[in-house]
Amino acid sequence: MVERGYADIVLIDIIEGLPQGKALDILESAPILNFDTHIIGTNSYQETANSDVVIITSGTGRKPGMTRDELLLTNVKIITEVTHNVVNHSPNGIIIVVTNPVDAMTHLAIHSSHFPRNRVFGLSGVLDSTRFSSFIATELNVSVKDVSVCVLGQHGKNMVVIPRLSTVGGTPITKLLPQETIDKLVERTINGGAEIVNLLKTCSAFYAPSAAVARMVDAVILDKKEVLPCATYLQGEYGIKDTVISVPVKLGKSGIERIIELELTDEEKQALTTSAEAVQELVKTMKLSKPNIKHTARG
Ligand code: 2OP
Repeated sequence: MVERGYADIVLIDIIEGLPQGKALDILESAPILNFDTHIIGTNSYQETANSDVVIITSGTGRKPGMTRDELLLTNVKIITEVTHNVVNHSPNGIIIVVTNPVDAMTHLAIHSSHFPRNRVFGLSGVLDSTRFSSFIATELNVSVKDVSVCVLGQHGKNMVVIPRLSTVGGTPITKLLPQETIDKLVERTINGGAEIVNLLKTCSAFYAPSAAVARMVDAVILDKKEVLPCATYLQGEYGIKDTVISVPVKLGKSGIERIIELELTDEEKQALTTSAEAVQELVKTMKLSKPNIKHTARG
């Protein structure tokens, strides 16, 4: 993000020296990569004060064989504390949650921040979509630029991949690939995170998640009004209430500026409801106090 040249970046971590070392290393690449924006590392929230956008990645990550949901209880404490610090230092900021299980953690960040839902959302759909798009482009030997996909729902096993609305140059992939191949690509997308964890063994993916978050931040900081699928707190849209799952939203300088309601088939709607129910189960496990969520968002 610092390479994009539109914002100064503060990296923060509890480990002394780690964010400072990373930031310095990145800063020293500026003369070659040609950016004049600044990056610093710190262990103190004071230096993050008045951030426009805060990306929360804190928490434990997955190891091979673990599901994202197994991280829930460890990460609840961390995200609650981090969110309070963010709110105290950047009361007008927009929070993008990356920590897993991201739908539940986004719910928790909204709950803990008391921010309206347009200012707190999570990374999921953009990452899941870039995975599905790259698999389709490879399979059909076409440019990734021509691929446009629709992936909704939970960032996990109840992800809702919609081949009917996924196209290459305007043609739905259902007309370009046999069902068996589509099923294989869908399955690979749903397990996309785990596939990488299993290869890396000690941690999860970096490059596609960071590219996906950067795209979301571009949309906000540059006020692009881009429609991107994000983990979003639904209040009746798609017939789902008080639950975070990924749906397409218009992202601009106010964060979520509109929630887009796609026309889904009954089967797709049912899959989205099942996805929401899985997230609701996780949220129940967190035993949050009664709703703290402001019902003030637009769209
Ligand atoms: C992934 O799917 C980290 O959840 C993220 O790779």
